[in-house]
Amino acid sequence: MTYPVEIAPSILAADFSCLGDGIRAVERGGAAMLHVDVMDGHFVPNISIGVPVVISLRKATRLPLDVHLMIQNPELFIQAFAEAGADMISIHEEATPHLDRALSMIREHGCQPGAVINPATPVSALSEIFGKVDHILVMSVNPGFGGQKFIPGALGKIRELKRIRESYNHSFRIEVDGGVGPENVAELVRAGAEILVAGTSIFHTPDAAEAVRSMKQTADGALAQKV
Ligand code: DX5
Ligand code: ZN
Repeated sequence: MTYPVEIAPSILAADFSCLGDGIRAVERGGAAMLHVDVMDGHFVPNISIGVPVVISLRKATRLPLDVHLMIQNPELFIQAFAEAGADMISIHEEATPHLDRALSMIREHGCQPGAVINPATPVSALSEIFGKVDHILVMSVNPGFGGQKFIPGALGKIRELKRIRESYNHSFRIEVDGGVGPENVAELVRAGAEILVAGTSIFHTPDAAEAVRSMKQTADGALAQKV
C-alpha cells in the first residue's frame, strides 16, 4: 500500500495573535491538513488550546483538522471535538484504559480515529486495535511542548508499523510528530511516514509557505526514490 506524503503544520508553533495569517500561509504552501495540539496540563505538563479554538479554525479553513488530544480520559471530550469540526481525532494509548471503546466513539461521531504512542510505548501496545484506526501517530518527542529534539527511536517504530501493515493487510496511515524538519524528512519518508507533523520548522521560519513547500518537495523526492 502506498499513500502520498502529506505535511501537517502544527499550529502550536504559530503566532496565535495572527493565527489566520499563519493558516493562509501554510495553505499557500500546500499543507494537507492542520495539526491541532490539545493539552490538559494533566496528561502532559502543559496547557494549550481547546474546543473554542477548533470551532474558530473550522470557520477559518477548509483544510482537514487533525486534532491530537494530549488529555487524560479523552473519551469525555470526543463528542465536543467532533461537533467543533475535527476531521481526525488522535488519542494516546497511555491516556485511557478504554482505547478500543474510545476509538469506536471517534468513528461513531463521524471522525477518523487515530491512536498515538509516546516514545516509551512500544508498537505492540496497539496490536489489538490496528484494524480499528485510520492512522497511527508515532511521537518522536515526549509530548507537551514544541521545539524539542527528534528522538531517533521513532524511525524503528515507523518501519515496524509499515511491516505490520503490509503483513496483515491493514490500511492505517503512519504519522510522526515532534522534531520533524528538513534534516530528517527524507529519512522519515523512507522509513514509511506518510503524515509529517511539523511546528517549529514551519512557523519559526521567515516564510511558512515556503517551509511547507520545500518540506513537501523533499518528501516527494524521498518517496520517488523509495518506490
Ligand atoms: C508536541 C506536539 C507537537 C508539536 C510539534 O507535544 O504534539 O505536535 O507541536 O512541534 P515541533 O514540530 O516544534 O517539534
Ligand atoms: Zn501533536
